[in-house]
Amino acid sequence: MKRLSMTTSLTRKDPNTMCGNDLKLFVRRRAANRAGSAIFDRMQVIISVSNLSKSYASGFEALSNVTLDIRRGEIFALLGPNGAGKTTLISTICGLVRPSTGRVTVGGHDIITDFRAARALIGLVPQELTTDSFESVWATVSFSRGLFGKPPDPAHIEKVLKSLSLWDKRKSRIMTLSGGMKRRVLIAKALSHEPRILFLDEPTAGVDVELRQDMWALVRDLRETGVTIILTTHYIEEAEEMADRIGVISKGRLILVEDKVELMRKLGKKQLALHLDQRLEQIPAALAHYGLVLSDDGHELIYTYDAKKEHAGILALLRGLDEAGIAFRDLNTSQSSLEDIFVSLVKEEQ
Ligand SMILES: Nc1ncnc2c1ncn2[C@@H]1O[C@H](COP(=O)(O)OP(=O)(O)O)[C@@H](O)[C@H]1O
Ligand SMILES: [Mg+2]
Repeated sequence: MKRLSMTTSLTRKDPNTMCGNDLKLFVRRRAANRAGSAIFDRMQVIISVSNLSKSYASGFEALSNVTLDIRRGEIFALLGPNGAGKTTLISTICGLVRPSTGRVTVGGHDIITDFRAARALIGLVPQELTTDSFESVWATVSFSRGLFGKPPDPAHIEKVLKSLSLWDKRKSRIMTLSGGMKRRVLIAKALSHEPRILFLDEPTAGVDVELRQDMWALVRDLRETGVTIILTTHYIEEAEEMADRIGVISKGRLILVEDKVELMRKLGKKQLALHLDQRLEQIPAALAHYGLVLSDDGHELIYTYDAKKEHAGILALLRGLDEAGIAFRDLNTSQSSLEDIFVSLVKEEQ
C-alpha cells in the first residue's frame, strides 16, 4: 500500500497540458514505473503454477492445465465440490504428488529440481487425520521441526502449542486426544518449522464451532506476520469470511480466480423479473438504457441492478414501462449469493 503512494506524484500533472521536456520526463518516468511495478508484481508471487496437469496411474486426469499465481501474504481460498482436484493441487505444490506436465515454483524454487528449498517454505495441514501415535504432543511437534533440519527451538514450539490451546495437553499421547485436538496437533506440526506458506486442506470439515473460530483467528494472526495461506473448503461462508481471493475448481479445471471484494460486488447485484401480460416482441427504445433482457418466449423482462441504488432505478423503470404501455401481472426479485455464483459456475462445467 505504502509503495503505491510513490507513484502518485507522477499522475498529479495532467499530461495533456505538458510539453517538451516535461512530457519526455513524464513518458520516461511512466515507462520506468511500469517496469518497476512489473518487477514488483513478480516479487509478489510466491507460488507459481503453470499449465499443471495430473493424471493418476489409473489414467484419470485429476488436474487439467491449471495456471495460477499465489501472491505473497494473501489468503487464497480454493473452492470446489468433492473430487474437484483440490487436494491433488495442494499435494502437487507440496511435492507429495508428481505432476504429469507443467511447472510449479515455490518462492522461486522448482518443486522437483529444488524440492528441499521449496518444501522448507511450506507447512501443510492435511485433510486426513494421520496422527494415531503413542508419542506426546510435544515430541511429535518438536520432531516435525527437526524433519526440516531446523535447530530445536522450545520457545517457538511453546508459542505454537499455546496459540492452539494445546499447552495443557503437551504431555498427552496423541492417541488419547479428541478429533478436534488431533487436528490442532496437525496444525502445530505444520507450524513447527516456521513456514512462510501454510496450506490448510479442508481445515474445518467436521470440526466444532470453537475450533473453527480458533482456526480463523489463527489464520488471521499468521497473515499479520506475512504468512501466505491457501485453504481449500467447500464451505462458501468460510471463503467469504476469510479469503482475499477465491479460486473455483471443478473437474480438475480452474474455472475462476477472483478478488473476493470483486465477487462480493457482483454479489450486490439483484434481479427483478417482470412477468408480462402480453408477449413483447422487442424492448422499446425508450427503455434501452436499462439493459433489460427479454426472455425467449417474450413473456418475461429481467432487470439486473445494483442493490444499493434499487429504488430510483426501479421506480423509473416501472414508470417507463407504464408509459410504453407494457403491463405486467407479477414480479419477483432475487439476489445472487456467492453460493449461487459458485453453484451455477460448477453446474456449467458439468
Ligand atoms: N491416488 C489416486 N489415484 C487415482 N485417483 C485419485 C487419486 N487421488 C485422487 N484421485 C481422484 O482424483 C480426483 C480429485 O481428487 P481430490 O484431489 O482428492 O479432490 P478434492 O480434494 O477436490 O475432493 C477424484 O476423482 C479422486 O477420486
Ligand atoms: Mg480434498
